[in-house]
Amino acid sequence: MFVSESLSVDERGVLCIGGANAIDIAKEFGTPVYVMDEDLIRKNCRIYKDAMDKHYGGNGLVLYASKAFSCKRMVKIVKEEGLGLDVVSGGELYTAIKADFPMEKVYFHGNNKTEDELSLAVTSGVGTIVVDNIFELEKLNTIAENKGKTVNIMFRIKPGIDAHTHEFVMTGQIDSKFGVALETGEAMEAYKTAKQMKNLNIVGVHCHIGSQIFDIQPFEHAASVMMGFIADLKAEGIKIEQMNLGGGYGIKYVPEDNPIDYDAYIEAVSKVVKKVAAEKGIEMPKILMEPGRSIVASAGATLYKIGGVKEIPDVRTYVSVDGGMADNPRFIMYGSKYHALLANNPLAQPEKEVTIAGKCCESGDLLIKDIKMPKLKAGDILAVLATGAYNYSMASNYNRIPRPPVVMVSGGKPSLAVKRETYEDIIKNDI
Ligand code: LLP
Repeated sequence: MFVSESLSVDERGVLCIGGANAIDIAKEFGTPVYVMDEDLIRKNCRIYKDAMDKHYGGNGLVLYASKAFSCKRMVKIVKEEGLGLDVVSGGELYTAIKADFPMEKVYFHGNNKTEDELSLAVTSGVGTIVVDNIFELEKLNTIAENKGKTVNIMFRIKPGIDAHTHEFVMTGQIDSKFGVALETGEAMEAYKTAKQMKNLNIVGVHCHIGSQIFDIQPFEHAASVMMGFIADLKAEGIKIEQMNLGGGYGIKYVPEDNPIDYDAYIEAVSKVVKKVAAEKGIEMPKILMEPGRSIVASAGATLYKIGGVKEIPDVRTYVSVDGGMADNPRFIMYGSKYHALLANNPLAQPEKEVTIAGKCCESGDLLIKDIKMPKLKAGDILAVLATGAYNYSMASNYNRIPRPPVVMVSGGKPSLAVKRETYEDIIKNDI
């Protein structure tokens, strides 16, 4: 029933998230509201960190991919847990700067970073820029030269791997807008060009094969291909110190999902890396990973208030809630599946199949299609589970709907991490 260990039921029979009563949260902060279990986020950070320490003997670093969920509070948690940070835009970088994140542990991604973004990165001392292409390489070298700085770089490489996931979140194959390709020789050319650039310092290689992946095999394959490439670079006189293997580990959204154990995954990949290092006679690089979803998704739930139940005899029953695609666009974008519980009575027996609909002016604005739920009525609080990743970070103001607040629960105590937007916020940039 519970897809996340954050959830429990208290003595009143009410759903708790991170030990805090969901109905009390809905009353205090209003609905819709994103609720995040800070303790579980921290626990996930530690699982990754410990596994990296264990399997790479401390020669590794976990970077949290902040695109999954970013705000100053989250960045502070990542800092306190000793992880690095993956940012992918000036906005994510700015959040890190404002949260006093150690810049040397920031890796800046993106397939079309603007000059302003690159300048901000160089000025603020971002540790490493993950360069996407040759145009960016030239732009970055000029910016670094003008500022009298030397910048650490690695290229994003397409290792030519098809991971089995939604095509919109599959990124390691040759037909992808991201990175430089291995099999065409583009990647090798890019490194040779970079080697000539005075203000750039090559530190590593990077790949990310996709997201919400359940198999270990594509990750092992990617690690092996990338190690082979490091050996090829060595033969060309280019020394690689770091190998960044990206993120992408799947999480449990619905009860039937079976995600891999992250420690087992890291162990399996580490074996491949060590084996290829020995075979090819190369030094073990420092290993970086960039989990996003698997750090925060299960730690989140969104609470909505049910406005009404519309029964269309012999067709479908729509249960409408006070949020929808503006706060969670993942159903309309990817057909993503979610699980939900009646927060005021999560143990009630499911009895009827319904569809949970949002409030946007769009027929496709659904949160969950066909889910068996207990009897639902107007005024009930519905908890949609595992919404901690790519919900708040992908939320929009469609229909000029203010974005919901983010409430973090720590030690069973809820507190506001991001305020609810107001109508004034909605019009504040209108001239
Ligand atoms: N590193 C790089 C370079 C990435 O592009 C991504 C995700 C990650 C790390 C983190 O991947 P994760 O561990 O979160 O799977 N909006 C989509 C997901 C897009 C992911 C894009 N890149 C969704 O809602 O499913």
